[in-house]
Amino acid sequence: MPNINAAIIGVSAYVPDYVLTNAELSTMVETSDEWILSRTGIKTRHILKGEGQGTSDMGAPAVLNLLAKTNTKPENIDLLICTTVTPDMQFPATANIICDKAGLLNAFSFDLNAACSGFLFGLQTAQAYIRSGLYKKVIVVGADKMSSIVDYTDRSTCVIFGDGAGAVLLEPTEEDLGIIDAELHTDGSGRIHLHQKAGGSMKPASHETVDAREHFIYQEGQPVFKFAVSRMADVSVDMMKKHNIKPEELAWLVPHQANLRIIEATARRMEIDPAQVMINIQDFGNTTDATIPLCLNQWESQLKKGDKIILSAFGGGFTWAAVYLKWAYNGADVAVK
Ligand code: UT7
Repeated sequence: MPNINAAIIGVSAYVPDYVLTNAELSTMVETSDEWILSRTGIKTRHILKGEGQGTSDMGAPAVLNLLAKTNTKPENIDLLICTTVTPDMQFPATANIICDKAGLLNAFSFDLNAACSGFLFGLQTAQAYIRSGLYKKVIVVGADKMSSIVDYTDRSTCVIFGDGAGAVLLEPTEEDLGIIDAELHTDGSGRIHLHQKAGGSMKPASHETVDAREHFIYQEGQPVFKFAVSRMADVSVDMMKKHNIKPEELAWLVPHQANLRIIEATARRMEIDPAQVMINIQDFGNTTDATIPLCLNQWESQLKKGDKIILSAFGGGFTWAAVYLKWAYNGADVAVK
């Protein structure tokens, strides 16, 4: 039986129009452009405004554009996986809602929650379904409306997060391209440092939980920072060693965009040049599940067939992951569409 990999054959993204600047945040909480930029690298983030607008309202346009770019009929998609921590509702799955809004009539779909590592967990899940031969056209869409769970009176978290969505289409290939390997990890004991206290089955929503602002992100920044730096670097360096990739052979590192200092530390440990790293945190902040596809979409025109790329992430759970892939097409041919 030939070796089958899942290859990304198209990428698309969507960010809402509204831009929240450091200057505007400085009018909401005690902070400054200087603090935010020097501690996180973030200048702006996009925010989804409007009554009744949820994560699917970013995921669906990203998917529709992906279908148009790849000349794919919506009814030909077999499976859609939405990776998110901010579903439209507790149920049904946001993936189901995106399929409805984008006309994916024949796809089955489900949500996957691995916090900021979600998109990479989604890619590996797609890879497993495609390698098994069960399905041929799988979309992974990473989407989050982080502004729906951010406390805009908490300066330690409200400056970090933004909203956005990114989607990729994967298909089988027998060439030496696509997803070559993935290393995924979880450590649930890390939940004490990063979680949402109420609104789940353990502590359902009540007047008290709302008054206590427990439906917002709770994060202890420093322990999360420490784990993120070591785990993201470890898993990325492991991947390079395992596949004998020398620093100069790597075309791109695509890191989760949580903090510029975490990205730079990871790149240093991998001994790669800053020019090999996709960084757009200054424009979008931390969009959780969308950071990596937002980067792939922005850099698509520079990606060449055969490029060796490592995607790497760290997030709540804790979760962390690295995916090694060989890019499957020349981005310059399609990126303008
Ligand atoms: O993507 C999911 C995983 N999440 C992450 O990877 C996030 C990891 N953590 C971080 O990126 C950083 O820890 C933060 C950006 C969240 C915070 O940066 P930090 O350098 O670790 O700051 P800190 O929490 O140690 O706070 C240092 C000081 C404190 O003041 P005192 O106690 O020294 O007087 C904070 O109150 O900075 C203060 N501070 C702020 N000052 C101005 C915290 N937030 C702000 C702010 N503006 N927005």
